[in-house]
Amino acid sequence: MKVLIINGSPRVGGNTSIAINEMVKVFDSEGVETEVVQVGNKDIRGCIACSSCKTSGKCVFDDIVNELAPKFEAADGLVVASPVYYAAANGTLVSCLDRLFYSTGFDRTMKVGASIAVARRGGCSATFDQLNKYFMNCGMAVATSQYWNSVHGRDKGEAEQDLEGLQTMRTLARNMTFLMKSIALGKEKYGLPETEERQWTHFIG
Ligand SMILES: Cc1cc2nc3c(=O)[nH]c(=O)nc-3n(C[C@H](O)[C@H](O)[C@H](O)COP(=O)(O)O)c2cc1C
Repeated sequence: MKVLIINGSPRVGGNTSIAINEMVKVFDSEGVETEVVQVGNKDIRGCIACSSCKTSGKCVFDDIVNELAPKFEAADGLVVASPVYYAAANGTLVSCLDRLFYSTGFDRTMKVGASIAVARRGGCSATFDQLNKYFMNCGMAVATSQYWNSVHGRDKGEAEQDLEGLQTMRTLARNMTFLMKSIALGKEKYGLPETEERQWTHFIG
């Protein structure tokens, strides 16, 4: 079992890292391999809707997004973690995820996704909803915890004091591991759900 973890914070060792590390400890103890990639401190531009990925299978901007694509394809689970900026996800992370999800065509059915929002005080649940959207139109399963996945803190290190937030992270990692293992068993026994030929209906007037 492998989990790719994308950290959307520009601050190395910041509060988002603390939240992620709490999950990594559980994944380690459960024998789940993890790779953390910090993208919030990278220069990642947004999607330009050129659609060249539809023929090439990769983004026209050959940066970390194209490096993340095979890691995501190989992973059983994806964790996306963001600091809250203006009650939403970090803009660099959003550019990264738009391009990653749009430019890759591999099947994501029943890969397990989990999102985390980290904030001083407000905007966690809006950010959580925003990040979950990436998982929810491509057949992924979404792991949940004992509460909405948020951790609080402003200055670097403050998240260590949010004991409930850290417990939520540990529970999330355990639930995600259970879901990934259960899905692996289910795939062996029943196979993935049948898919229909895709209908593309555009509402233009
Ligand atoms: C540009 C900017 C906008 C922010 N907006 C919010 C916000 O809307 N709500 C909030 O509670 N905290 C906000 N914060 C605080 C961060 O979410 C908080 O410091 C968080 O711990 C940062 O995580 P990090 O250490 O992983 O970068 C903002 C910080 C910055 C730099």
